[in-house]
Amino acid sequence: MKYKITIFAMVAVCALAARGAAPQNERMNHFIDDLMSRMTLQEKIGQLNLPVTGDIITGSSVSGNVVDLIEAGGVGGLFNMKGERQIRQLQDVAVKKSRLGIPLIFGMDVIHGYETIFPIPLALSMSWDMDAIRSSARIAALEATADGICWSFSPMVDVCREPRWGRMSEGNGEDPYLGAAICRAMIEGYQGQDLTDRATMMSCVKHFALYGAPEAGRDYNTVDMSRVRMFNEYFEPYKAGVEAGAGSFMSSFNTIDYVPASANRWLMTEVLRDQWGFDGFVVTDYTAISEMMNHGMGDYQTVGALALNAGCDMDMVSDAYRTTLEKSLAEGRVSIETIDRACRRVLEAKYKLGLFDDPYRYLDAKRRGKEIYTAANRAEARRIATETFVLLKNDDNVLPLRREGKIALVGPLANTRANMPGTWSVAATSDRYSTLLEAMQRAVSGKAEVLYAKGCNVCYDEELEKNSTMFGREMRDPRDAAVMRDEAVRLAQQCDVIVAAMGEPSEMSGEASSRSSLTILDAQRDLLEALLKTGKPIVLLNFSGRATVMNWEAEHLPAIMNVWFGGSEAADAICDVVFGDVSPGGKLTVTMPRNEGQIPIYYNHLNTGRPNPKWFTKYTSNYLDVPNDALFPFGYGLSYTTFSYSPLTLSSNAMTATGSITASVTVTNTGSCAGAEVVQLYIRDMVGSIARPVQELKDFARIQLQPGESRTVSFTITPDKLKFYNSNLDYVLEPGDFEVMVGTDSRHVQRLPFAVK
Ligand code: BGC
Repeated sequence: MKYKITIFAMVAVCALAARGAAPQNERMNHFIDDLMSRMTLQEKIGQLNLPVTGDIITGSSVSGNVVDLIEAGGVGGLFNMKGERQIRQLQDVAVKKSRLGIPLIFGMDVIHGYETIFPIPLALSMSWDMDAIRSSARIAALEATADGICWSFSPMVDVCREPRWGRMSEGNGEDPYLGAAICRAMIEGYQGQDLTDRATMMSCVKHFALYGAPEAGRDYNTVDMSRVRMFNEYFEPYKAGVEAGAGSFMSSFNTIDYVPASANRWLMTEVLRDQWGFDGFVVTDYTAISEMMNHGMGDYQTVGALALNAGCDMDMVSDAYRTTLEKSLAEGRVSIETIDRACRRVLEAKYKLGLFDDPYRYLDAKRRGKEIYTAANRAEARRIATETFVLLKNDDNVLPLRREGKIALVGPLANTRANMPGTWSVAATSDRYSTLLEAMQRAVSGKAEVLYAKGCNVCYDEELEKNSTMFGREMRDPRDAAVMRDEAVRLAQQCDVIVAAMGEPSEMSGEASSRSSLTILDAQRDLLEALLKTGKPIVLLNFSGRATVMNWEAEHLPAIMNVWFGGSEAADAICDVVFGDVSPGGKLTVTMPRNEGQIPIYYNHLNTGRPNPKWFTKYTSNYLDVPNDALFPFGYGLSYTTFSYSPLTLSSNAMTATGSITASVTVTNTGSCAGAEVVQLYIRDMVGSIARPVQELKDFARIQLQPGESRTVSFTITPDKLKFYNSNLDYVLEPGDFEVMVGTDSRHVQRLPFAVK
């Protein structure tokens, strides 16, 4: 007990000193120096240990006896445990029973909300609305900290051009510039201005690095790419995370230059810390250290030492640090300085969160009842969800639907509750969320009739459906497929319009949910074909966590809207847009391929020596059987209104290497309802010392316009928007010719040349 009093007394003394001129860091260093001078080697190593106790287990767990371990000072933090009371009990053990009373840090995958669930990150990115994204993280932090969690394993900022990979759903799409902007907004939302504030939490940027580029789209698979590509096309969002002051980073599972990220010293120390100046702590991903034995990096002790020496401070679930570092120290395979440094970084995080000042800071039972899943939070989640839907096709203005007549609501995703929030909604309380059927019945408020039939299961293959609806989200109907389909067709025949709620169940994307085929699943396609024969207009609401292949649907159905997974309020938000209370304004942040063979397909590619945008010319770069271009390009999305663009102007057609010029365009809402437009600016560097992409997003503005309203959007082109990493990995601006493009998506742009002199 004596030691505990000493810790808290020290904080008080330091806090008093702080009122003077002593800088914050000095106080922290002083406090941690003192604490560490009293820690044993085992206690220091204990701080580096993050065992699993929670309800969510994503790999094989190896740690047991957590309570005893906490008491012995062998645990630094815990994660994915839900509930203030449960967390308080374990904090009590750490604070009251361990020798030094060092508080635990409690983390969770608070990825897109806590109990109020926001759209999945991929969907959020489609809003291009940084205020909305910041607000979603702010509310997530408010709710999570009201329930004992002060560390979020988010944002996930892995650039991804690989829709076969299920975790495309958790990231921000394929663009590094947009990904960086989102990373900053998320960190601002989680961490706010002051990490000791009881309603802010520490963020963890993940997965460092390149996890979004696995070979063949298979989760956890090898990544191999040039360093030029890493720096120019994949690193920008992580770097933005460092600049935004993220408190922690998480290593990725994959190899980089043939070395797993957790053992990659170049990555974890030279790039992250030495070049970018990261001063927080690095936690590994779940069992990433012990998995290095499978990568062929050595035995358990070896991989533990490799990870520590590379710069990973905390070991998530492998238990390798706790069980092998002492021996490695004795054998000279790690140094005490390296252990001390890692321990210090973890203690610093706790200090910054104010846990030494008050270990129960985030454990306030009164907040739980008042601040979680409130009407205000839910209203914000609903509003934000409406911004994320992307209208891909809307022939003859089938959408919005009028509240009249009879509406047939069909499809395996029309009447599911647990499926609505989307993957990685660890703290969700799904039984409180609405199904689309319930929301639609509310939305028509007696003015129209909504008739429902499931029509089909997710797919014919029972095993595939089972594997795609894990975590109790099972939804299979035992009836015969033909019986279900006929029922839906009969019902549709009596209706004026068909709304098909189809696509992927939520666990068909996310971790360990890679797919090799990205088309609408067989049973659903068959149902769509049968429904088409009724001659009634069909609106496809496509639920998905990735870019999917929809050639057939785009050819045959009049209206398609991608609704992704919109969170706890998704059902109401979908109805807001379907019935026209809100016009859709989301734009694709991933390219939609025509078939899987085009993958990887992304808008910011290099030119070849034999470019061919068309199909087909012999001896040019194309396919025999499919055009090169996307079915729907990056940046694309329709609205219920229309927008016109005035001719693009430039303030000058030349700038200096330290100057800037302005590109302007006036956008007018030429339709009959209010709507949002995302004006996009792309740049091409025409000649470089290395080949440069045909276009790169360098700015955007999301504007809301009333019918008839115009707004001039001006973008400043600064040297930073023209720089890139050359072959020596120097960040340079090479004078010469450039092209600026402004438009409504990456394909439909106006172009003007300019030069840097
Ligand atoms: C995932 C991480 C996650 C961790 C903890 C891992 O399997 O890759 O993104 O934060 O589990 O739940």
